[in-house]
Amino acid sequence: MKERLATTKARDEERNLELSLRPRRLDDADYINQDTVKRNLRVLLEAAQLRKEPLEHVLLYGPPGIGKTTTAYCIANEMGVQIRVTSGPAIERAGDLAAILTNCNPGDVLFIDEVHRLPRIVEEVLYPAMEEFHLDIVLGKGPGARTLRLPLPRFTLVGATTRIGRLSSPLRDRFGAVYRLDFFDHDALDRVVMRSARILDIDVEPEAGREIARRSRGTPRLANRWLKRVRDYAQVRADGRVTLAVARAALSELEVDEHGLDAVDRQLLGALVDKFGGGPVGLDTMAATIAEEPDTIADVYEPFLLQEGFLRRTPQGRVATERTYKVLRRTPPASLATLWEAERS
Ligand SMILES: Nc1ncnc2c1ncn2[C@@H]1O[C@H](COP(=O)(O)OP(=O)(O)OP(=O)(O)O)[C@@H](O)[C@H]1O
Ligand SMILES: [Mg+2]
Repeated sequence: MKERLATTKARDEERNLELSLRPRRLDDADYINQDTVKRNLRVLLEAAQLRKEPLEHVLLYGPPGIGKTTTAYCIANEMGVQIRVTSGPAIERAGDLAAILTNCNPGDVLFIDEVHRLPRIVEEVLYPAMEEFHLDIVLGKGPGARTLRLPLPRFTLVGATTRIGRLSSPLRDRFGAVYRLDFFDHDALDRVVMRSARILDIDVEPEAGREIARRSRGTPRLANRWLKRVRDYAQVRADGRVTLAVARAALSELEVDEHGLDAVDRQLLGALVDKFGGGPVGLDTMAATIAEEPDTIADVYEPFLLQEGFLRRTPQGRVATERTYKVLRRTPPASLATLWEAERS
C-alpha cells in the first residue's frame, strides 16, 4: 500500500510538471513550432472573434506527445472560454454526451481525446449536435418510444486522435478545420528543452540541451521527460549542472541511444532484421515477436521509425532500410543490398 501511494505520488508529480510545462497561449515564445497550424488557427480564431461567433469544430491529429491536448487548451484560452475534457471511450451512451453538453456555456470547448474511439451510437447523436446544436434522445423502447429534442448551446468540438484513418468519414467531414501536428525538428525541440529548463530552473548547458533534443524522437513530451530524468541524474551523480557529459551519461543509462531509439525500438528493428531477413513482415507478426500490442506499435513506435527512415511500409508489410542495418551494425542480405544499389542509380 505504501508503495502504491508512493507511485501515485510520483505520477501526480509527473502530471503536475507536465501541466506546468504546457504552453497556455499560441504566442511564439510559449507555443513552439507547428507554424502552419499556428498560422491557420490564428486566422480561424480571429475570424470567429470578429464575427462574434463560436469557433468551428476543430480536429487535431498526429503522433502521441506532440501537442494535441496542449493545442486544445490553447484554443480555449485564446477564445476566452471554458474547456470540458473527455475522451472517446469515456462517453458510453448518448446520455453521457447530453450531460456534458447541456452543462456547456455558449462558445465553450468540448475536447474529446481519442475521438476515433467514440462508440457508434454516440457518434450518431453527435452529428446533429455538431451541425444543428441539438440532441435527439430516445426515451423508452418499442412502439411507445418517444424522441426528446434537447437544444444545446453553440459549443466548439475539438477532437484529437493519433489515428485519423480510424475516424469515420461522416464524423471527419463535420469538422470545419482539420490540422495535422507533426514531429518537431531538433531546433524546435531544443527550444522546448531550454524553455522547460528555464521554467523548472535547471542549469542546462546549450550543448546538453541540444543533445537531449536530438534524442527525443521529435516529441516535446519526451524532451521534457528526458530533461527531468537528466536533471535527477545531474543531482545524484554530479553537481546538479546539466553538462554535455552528464546528459550523455544519463541518457545512455536510460537506454536512449544517439538516434533517440529506445530499447523497444531496437528490439523491434532487431527482430525485423534478425528473424525476418529485413521483411516484409506484417504488423501483427512483428508485434507478437516482441510481445507488444499491434496498436501500440502502430501508434507509438512506428510513426517515428517511418519518419526517420528506419522502416518502410509496403503493401506486403514492414521492411527494414539501409539505415536500419547501419544503425544495428548488421550486414544486409545480398538481395537487399542489390535492391538499394538499384534504387540509388
Ligand atoms: N507547441 C509546443 N510548445 C512547447 N511545448 C509543447 C508544445 N506542444 C506540446 N508541448 C509539450 O509536450 C507535452 C505533451 O503535449 P500534449 O499532451 O499536448 O500531447 P498530445 O499530442 O496530446 O499527446 P497524446 O497523444 O499522448 O494525448 C506538453 O505537456 C507540453 O509540455
Ligand atoms: Mg493528449
